Amino acid sequence: MKKTKKAIKSKIKKVIVKKKKYPKVHPNFPYGNDGNLVVATKSGLPTMLTGDADLTDESIKKQLKRLRLEAEKEFTTKTVQKKGALTKLQDTNYWINRPLNDKERDWKYNEVDWITDYVASAEHPHRDLIVEALKKFPSLGGILEVGCNAGPNLIRLQTAFPENQLAGIDVNVEAIERAKANLPKPILKVGSVFEIPFGDKEFDVVLADAVLMYVGPNEIGKAMDEIDRVVQRIVILVERFNNSILGRETGHVWGRNYLHLLSEKGFDVEMIPLTEETWPDSPNWQKYGRIFIAHRQS
Ligand SMILES: C[S@@+](CC[C@H](N)C(=O)[O-])C[C@H]1O[C@@H](n2cnc3c(N)ncnc32)[C@H](O)[C@@H]1O
Repeated sequence: MKKTKKAIKSKIKKVIVKKKKYPKVHPNFPYGNDGNLVVATKSGLPTMLTGDADLTDESIKKQLKRLRLEAEKEFTTKTVQKKGALTKLQDTNYWINRPLNDKERDWKYNEVDWITDYVASAEHPHRDLIVEALKKFPSLGGILEVGCNAGPNLIRLQTAFPENQLAGIDVNVEAIERAKANLPKPILKVGSVFEIPFGDKEFDVVLADAVLMYVGPNEIGKAMDEIDRVVQRIVILVERFNNSILGRETGHVWGRNYLHLLSEKGFDVEMIPLTEETWPDSPNWQKYGRIFIAHRQS
């Protein structure tokens, strides 16, 4: 065991040297796509070290995490530079300033404006998964939806959990005004995932549905910290999956490894892929979309 740790430490040193010498690293460094540890990246050709179970030493884990984040940052910066500016959809300001008469539609319900289209999406089948997931937990308390828009999920949650305190925040003022008109009971506030306007552990459940996919690699840490701060027990995310921690483009929005991000905060996480049945008419949601059901380890 001692020998293995020593060997790993010396390999890490080699990795650092090699990373300097060969800055082109594997995008998931120091993990390969199969989740095994990459111990060498010479000319971008990774060598895998199996037997992650031996990595019990906290300092080794820390070093590896730092190396991985460094490598990801380097990779993301290069990708963004190569592709030019991010699309407007990857920017919170787009959502804050999106005019009501915007011709672009996220849903195809042809309502009078894009926010009314969100209200019309309340019966969309992916929302059934959220309700079903929550119904499995006994004695649920308050539920906060971050990025609730005009409240399509809250409409569903109000029917499914009429006794529970519901709340929603969104950066778009008009969306929150509309949510207030549709839903008199929940607490609704203009607010951002980067600074959630509620106290520590104020909610039993936090839900984010198609919101973190607009949060870039430099901000995702802050968003996850805020969710963790206000939630007691359960986090439900409907987002795009990619093996990278900070994020990779998955059809014009960010996909990332929420299994990793939630488990490092002490949650047990189940990941269920979205399908043609649960998200019809969207190849990207069917390819990258997942519902993450996370329960804080007691
Ligand atoms: C794709 S919509 C999803 C809306 C809703 N969750 C649903 O399931 O239909 C993304 C929503 O997130 C909101 N949003 C974007 N960035 C946000 C942020 N940093 N904090 C809170 N809400 C945000 C937008 O205004 C928009 O209403």
